[in-house]
Amino acid sequence: MLRQSIKTITVKNLLTFLMLAATIMAIIIAFNFRALSHNIVKNEALAVADMVKAGLTAHMKAEIMDKRDYFLSEIGTLNNINKISIIRSPAVIEQYGEMGARQEVITPLVQKAFQTKKAVFIINDFDAAPVIYAAVPYIASNSGALNCLSCHEVAEGTVLGAVNIELDLQEYRTMASWILLIVLVASLFFILLLIVNIFRTVQIYVKEPLESLIARAKVAYEEHSPVNMEKFESLEFMHVADEINQFNTDIIANQELLKQMNHNLVDLNNEIEDTLKETVFTMGVIEEQRSKETRNHTKRVTEYSRLLASKIGLSDDDVRLIAAASPLHDIGKLGIPDEILLKPGKLTDDEFESMKNHTTIGYSMLVHSERKLLQAASVIAHQHHEKWDGSGYPWGLRGEGIHIFGRIVCVVDVFDALLSVRSYKEAWPLDRTVAWIEGQKGKHFDPFLVETLLAHLCEFIEVGERFGSSE
Ligand SMILES: [Fe+2]
Ligand SMILES: [Fe+2]
Repeated sequence: MLRQSIKTITVKNLLTFLMLAATIMAIIIAFNFRALSHNIVKNEALAVADMVKAGLTAHMKAEIMDKRDYFLSEIGTLNNINKISIIRSPAVIEQYGEMGARQEVITPLVQKAFQTKKAVFIINDFDAAPVIYAAVPYIASNSGALNCLSCHEVAEGTVLGAVNIELDLQEYRTMASWILLIVLVASLFFILLLIVNIFRTVQIYVKEPLESLIARAKVAYEEHSPVNMEKFESLEFMHVADEINQFNTDIIANQELLKQMNHNLVDLNNEIEDTLKETVFTMGVIEEQRSKETRNHTKRVTEYSRLLASKIGLSDDDVRLIAAASPLHDIGKLGIPDEILLKPGKLTDDEFESMKNHTTIGYSMLVHSERKLLQAASVIAHQHHEKWDGSGYPWGLRGEGIHIFGRIVCVVDVFDALLSVRSYKEAWPLDRTVAWIEGQKGKHFDPFLVETLLAHLCEFIEVGERFGSSE
């Protein structure tokens, strides 16, 4: 969704509202001005009619009625008057006859004025040439020094005639257009000023403080310092800053607590892991002591395994895992009877077959655990007597079908055994051990592991010396 800035939203909404308000205002002004204009031009027509009536009365008093056409033609030259004429009513025509060539046709407008005895108007202000038609009737009266009834043989209140006037409205329409234009321009100018002002207000009092607040909140959180509320002019932003300070304080306090709890958990986890490793190692040592193997055999197998796993590029996790699990490689010997396990000299075939069981016994002791360490230990216990060429036990697995942990412990276990004194043999010298190990490359042992061990032989010897037996 396309998001708009607070300024755009404010200005857009305000502009829509103001344009609507300006349009409504212009329409109201236009209608009012039109109504006012109509009143003005009607009054103007009535004033002209009164003027004509007064002029004709004066002509009658001066007994110069034959000169009235001059008077009317002069009136017709006055401003805005397109046309002016006098139309006799049927009652006057009956008494004096028609006005000859000057008698005009009685239009429907004049007819209506005769009937209603009131001034009647038609305003065509939307025509190309806007005009007002007015028909103003003269009613017979017997008041005044020279009353109508002294000349006209009609009853009082009879319509004597009408002044028929056509006034030009172009001037009013032009004026209306100008006023409308001025109102619109003034409105637009006002709207523009308002928008600029609102734009500026939003920028200064909303956008900038908001951006500043966000930046300050971030710094406050990072530096664990409060947002300075005095920097904000508006009450709302001060409240928001206050809330942010409260929020930051809570978060920071919780973070410290979490950090402490996490630290405790890590310590506890390390403690558990170390305890497990130590327990596993101790189990290996127990087995070592029962088997009366050379002292520290378990420790050396552990460190040789760690070193060889590291040299062949196993991951750090796997290096740690094999080092922790390898002490249990012969744990199954706890299930071998003393007379076989501790027998000096060579075992019989049957005894050797029983001895082989220490792999499966060790495996079944450990395999039920869901712990990664004990799972790895079960694999090592099971496979550390398998041989690369498939002639090992208990399954006769071959090559990479033997787990890498099994292959590693296999070679380092034999390496240490050859270099150590056992109940059935003396300690072999290094050169004989190396020659034998090398001879078993691809037979007993994984060739790559043999090559790696021999390539770093000095480091293995160093480890052996560091954890050597007391014998
Ligand atoms: Fe073994
Ligand atoms: Fe061993």
